[in-house]
Amino acid sequence: MNPLTNPTHSALASLGLRGADLLTLGSLTPEQLLGLLNATRTLKADWRSAGKPLADKHVAMIFEKPSLRTRVSFEVAVNRLGGSAVSLDTGGTRLGERESAFDQGKNLERMVDAIVARVYSQAELETLALAARIPVVNALSDWHHPCQGLADCFTLLERFGHVKGLSIAYIGDGNNVSHSLMEGAALLGAELRVITPPRCEPLPEIVTSTKALEAKGGGRVTLSHDPAQVAGCAAIYTDTWTSMGQRERVFQDADARRRAFEPYKVDAKLMARARADAIFMHCLPAHRGVEVTDEVMDSPASVVFTQAENRLHVQTTLLAALFS
Ligand code: CP
Ligand code: NVA
Repeated sequence: MNPLTNPTHSALASLGLRGADLLTLGSLTPEQLLGLLNATRTLKADWRSAGKPLADKHVAMIFEKPSLRTRVSFEVAVNRLGGSAVSLDTGGTRLGERESAFDQGKNLERMVDAIVARVYSQAELETLALAARIPVVNALSDWHHPCQGLADCFTLLERFGHVKGLSIAYIGDGNNVSHSLMEGAALLGAELRVITPPRCEPLPEIVTSTKALEAKGGGRVTLSHDPAQVAGCAAIYTDTWTSMGQRERVFQDADARRRAFEPYKVDAKLMARARADAIFMHCLPAHRGVEVTDEVMDSPASVVFTQAENRLHVQTTLLAALFS
């Protein structure tokens, strides 16, 4: 298909995405985020309509941590769009350890057309992106998980027809996933109630930067320690109580962590406090019986596998937008 006459291409190109936009969800404008979600509807129904914008293009995939969904969905998305993915096995070496992140970026920009990176350090990722004058997509860092946030916003849009005005509860650890959800909710005009144990709140830096996004998108993010705050919400979202590389965060001892988080477990009783048609969300992998019961994971309210599938659709759209 001729890219110049392909309507999907024109819609994606008009979003004006730049490589630097993909390090956090908050670097998108509300219009770009909504445009990406709307384009995802089109490409979920017919991904072939994107054509092959990655033909003859190569994407380096850096994974410092394990992954199922992110790795597979990115590789499939790159292949669908006509490109090829090069996987870098870091063998446990962190970005910047064997060679500076800056030098890695300077090398990779001469060989590939984009980088997808799952890393320990957002700061190192930003150094890599600064050096490499090609798009760098954050596939999860200690601070953010923007592709997950995109899929989460798309899943809410699909289910409720809108995100603006929805009340959503995120309950658990104030981590990377909660940060990206905060940014998405603020930009899309939703109310997000972030409910965490004391000392496990989202980072103050993200709370502050989200305020600016609320002003742009009309959303509202509140923080509390009270699980009863899930009352009346359209969605209850949770994530692991211990993120990769964060075992020592706040608690030195695993038992103390479990005790502090126990009141925040998502079970049928907690779900019953939300709206009658409320959905249960989790980025996965889930620790069944820990942050969520089997009963909730396997209930009709659970959309966790749709969220996982939507990673493929939003990332296909994102990559197509970058190269349209
Ligand atoms: N949700 C998510 O990013 O899953 P993986 O860690 O398996 O990629
Ligand atoms: N918060 C989790 C998300 C995994 C997809 C982690 O960082 O391990």
